[in-house]
Order: sequence, then structure tokens, then C-alpha cells
Amino acid sequence: MSTKIYVPRDAAALSVGANAVVDAIQREAKARGEAVEIVRNGSRGMFWLEPLVEVETAQGRVGYGPVKARDVASLFDAGALTGGDHALRVGLIEDLDWMKRQQRLTFARIGVIDPFSLADYCAHGGLEGLKKALTLAPAEVVEQVRLSGLRGRGGAGFPAGIKWKTVHDAQADRKYVVCNADEGDSGTFADRMVFEGDPFMLIEGMAIAAYAVGATKGFIYLRSEYPHAANAMESAIHLARQAGWIGKDAFGREKPFDLELRIGAGAYICGEETSLLESLEGKRGLVRAKPPLPAISGLFGKPTLINNVLTLAAVPYILAEGGKAYGDYGMGRSRGTLPIQLAGNVLRGGLIERAFGVTLREIIEDFGGGTASGRPIRAVQVGGPLGAYLSEKELDLPLDYETLAANRALLGHGGVVVFDDSVDMAKMARFAFHFCAKESCGKCTPCRIGAVRGEEMMTKIIAGRDVEANIALVRDLCEVMTDGSLCAHGGLTPMPVLSAIDRFPEDFVPAERKTAAE
Ligand SMILES: Cc1cc2nc3c(=O)[nH]c(=O)nc-3n(C[C@H](O)[C@H](O)[C@H](O)COP(=O)(O)O)c2cc1C
Ligand code: SF4
Repeated sequence: MSTKIYVPRDAAALSVGANAVVDAIQREAKARGEAVEIVRNGSRGMFWLEPLVEVETAQGRVGYGPVKARDVASLFDAGALTGGDHALRVGLIEDLDWMKRQQRLTFARIGVIDPFSLADYCAHGGLEGLKKALTLAPAEVVEQVRLSGLRGRGGAGFPAGIKWKTVHDAQADRKYVVCNADEGDSGTFADRMVFEGDPFMLIEGMAIAAYAVGATKGFIYLRSEYPHAANAMESAIHLARQAGWIGKDAFGREKPFDLELRIGAGAYICGEETSLLESLEGKRGLVRAKPPLPAISGLFGKPTLINNVLTLAAVPYILAEGGKAYGDYGMGRSRGTLPIQLAGNVLRGGLIERAFGVTLREIIEDFGGGTASGRPIRAVQVGGPLGAYLSEKELDLPLDYETLAANRALLGHGGVVVFDDSVDMAKMARFAFHFCAKESCGKCTPCRIGAVRGEEMMTKIIAGRDVEANIALVRDLCEVMTDGSLCAHGGLTPMPVLSAIDRFPEDFVPAERKTAAE
């Protein structure tokens, strides 16, 4: 009998040599006459352990990591094929504190299954949501989503049930479902992990959404920087079509539903839903004025349901277990779980799925182990490049939409980026303007011109020139950008800028005081 060994195919594992590890395992097994079956799974999200090799034993899956190709011979010597002891042995994966303290609903299968095995997917609860949905009327499916309290995971946190109902109620000869997989926020990678670790879950979520709103065609818009995710999704769509899960008369549905993967061209702004639609239509990614909402007039002027990957990926669970079961997790108006992406200067970065309400401190200190540098935490940016910088004193804030909003911050796509005490917050504020200028679509003046002027003013502040007057000007500019920008790109850039100025004023001082302090 052969031993099953799991080595992730996730880009995070590939980037640190997972393929070389697979080659080494195959070579070593052959030389020793051992029969092994290698499964290329997704990542468990413990990036500091990648490549994480898991061996299936009678007790469960035993992990070893981070494994280099040069470690493989010693692993065989140590009896790793039966879970033997070795310096890299981390124990039974399911028993690890990191895993046990999570509430993995969306990420339940990721890292566990073979992402391209339809049988593995079904054996782990896959397709149950779609099967259940097809026993309900479309409006009842929408109602389950509403009941779950699911809110959009792309950034704005808009209630999914309301959006689905709007598209459901819209009258048109054609409707679309669009999945926003542009994932441009700094420090985020959960969408990519879904593509590479459990692509059928997204396909199932989109099929359920299409049934619920009456759409016949779905598009997945993926950022160009994710080639492995693109390949994974192409393969998964092909397999799902062959299996009859999508296509002409999938599951005997009245309406056909098929999917197409489209790749972006590297613009952050194409994550904004209306410029994404422009891009899908083959045009330049310029933001559209709203109204009309995409739910009424979206892709090619037709009612379009556009949701983030994680929003759609939560749907199979919601349908399989019921909206209430999902909504039982969370706090306040933030229901369910949030896949949190922990990155930056942190010892143990990775993917943590927890119910809303978990504190930043628990995420960064308990899961993350503090900074990688060993220096004190000084700032944490939550919610991507347009999110606020929080100070160490705010780490006890629970993560939910309303708490963060009340603290002049946002949750965004769930990205948490950690900085130690060597960070210069004035430079981070300048970077916010720089990023805004670079990625602006150029349609409106406060963002197109304002970001450039903001960067110039921050350069003066950093040089210690007329600091107070320039900060006053920056504040004025931020007010204009907040009030006058057409979309949240320009509208939210003031958030990181002002959070840096207000929470870290000691980094915004005239040149003479800076020199005196040094
Ligand atoms: C500048 C900018 C970039 C955005 N980038 C993304 C993105 O990469 N992925 C995403 O899902 N939503 C992104 N959004 C939010 C989308 O406009 C939209 O709210 C989202 O796709 C709706 O899906 P949801 O309701 O499931 O969150 C971005 C918004 C702005 C203003
Ligand atoms: S705020 Fe910036 S990105 Fe948004 S529409 Fe205006 S110019 Fe374009």
C-alpha cells in the first residue's frame, strides 16, 4: 500500500520550493523502494511552515515544515512515512493550536482536499449547497442569503441578500453574475487561496447565485498577477463543465449557466466594480458614475450581480447548512466568519478564519506571534492600502464593520499588515498619496490631481519644511478628496493619511525638532 503525502501547489508554497520537494520525495521513494502517492493540495494558510508536507498516517495527517528538498532524505531516515520524529515535525495538523482556534467555514476544505478532484470535493461536503438551492425557489435562495447576514467581503460590506434581491427582482432578457477576483489590496491573498485550494467552491457559489438571480452567464475577473490561480480556475471550470455541474442543462435546470475566466491587465482600480465591468466589456478601466447600480444596469447594460470571491465562496455553506447556521457566528451586524489575512512584519503570517469579533491582538499576537523582527508593534494597517493605520493601543478592538467604522477605520477585504517601531509614518502617509496617484483612473479631479499634490506636500513635511502649514493643507485636501471623489479610491485615500497624522503625530515634526530628537 502506498503512503499518501500532501505537498501544496499553492503559489505561496511554490515560491519557496514545493515542486523541488515533490521531486526529491519521488526520487527518494524510488531509491528506497517505498510506494508513495503525492497529492498537490492547497495551503493550510500557515505560510511560515511552507512547504508544509503532510503524511497520512493511522493517527491522522502529520505535518513537517518548512521542508527543503535537502531535508527529504533525513525525513525518510526518520520514518516520516509513518509519522516519525524529526526536527521539522510539527505534529498532527488538526491538533495544532493555530488550526483548532479557527472557525473554518469557507476554508474548511482548503489544504485538506485535492483541489481538482470532484470526488474529494463531494466527499467533503461539496455540492450540497447547490443541490439544496435547486430544491428551493430562487426567491427562497435569496432569502437564505439574507437570513445569513452575509455582507460583501470585497470591502464595502454591503448586505449580500439585498444586492441579490435587487438583481432577482430586475426584469431583463439576460442577467449576469460577476466574481470580483481582482484582489489588489496589499497583504491580501484569501481569494487566491480559494482559487488554488478549492476552486469548485467558488464555481458552486456562482452557480447558486446565478440560479437565485436568474443569470445565465458568469464571469470571473482575475488579476493578471495570479498565473497559478488562473491555471487552477481554468482546469476547475473545464472539469465542472465535463461533470455537468455547469453548462447547458446542468442539473436539469431550466436555464443554462456557464462560466468564463477573464484576466485583468494590472490596474488596481479594476477591482472597483464599475471599472471592472468596463474592463470586462473590453474598455479602459474607468469608473462609472452610480446610479445606475450594476444590479440594475451592469455588464452590457444588463442586471449584474457582482460579488467578491469570499462572498460567493461563503454561499455553498449558507445553503447547505441554512442561513441561520452561518448567521449564528459573529457579532452585531457582522455575521458569519471572516478570512483574515495576516501579513507584513509578523512572525507567523497566514490565513486565519474566525467569527467577527475576534480582536486584532489575538490575531497578531496569539496567531501571529508578534513581529518577525522581534521589535515592538507600532502600527497595523487594516483593510488594504485605503485602510487606516491603527496604533498598538487599539489592538483590543474587535474586528467587525461597525467597530472599525466608529474608530475611523475599515475592515476592507480582511487584510492585516503589521509594522514594527522602525516604521516612519510620515513616509507611509506619503505612500498612500503615491499609491492613489499611481492607480487613479483619472476620471475626477480630487483624486487625479489631489493625490499628486498630496504626495508633494508630504515630501515637504518629511523634509521638515513648514510642517504645520503643510499639515493644515493636507487636511484641507483630504476633506476635498473625501467629499468630492467619484469613487472610494480617491474618497478613502485620506483614511491612511489622516490616521497616520492623528495617531502618530510624533512622526510629523519640523526639521529642527527631528534633529534634536535624534
Ligand atoms: C479602488 C477600489 C478597489 C477595489 N478592489 C476590489 C477588489 O480587488 N476585489 C473586490 O472584491 N472588491 C474590490 N472593491 C470593491 C468593489 O467595488 C465592490 O464593492 C465589490 O466587488 C462588491 O462585492 P461584495 O459586495 O461581495 O464585496 C474595490 C473598490 C474600490 C473603490
Ligand atoms: S476617485 Fe480616482 S479612481 Fe475613483 S473615479 Fe475619481 S479619479 Fe477615478
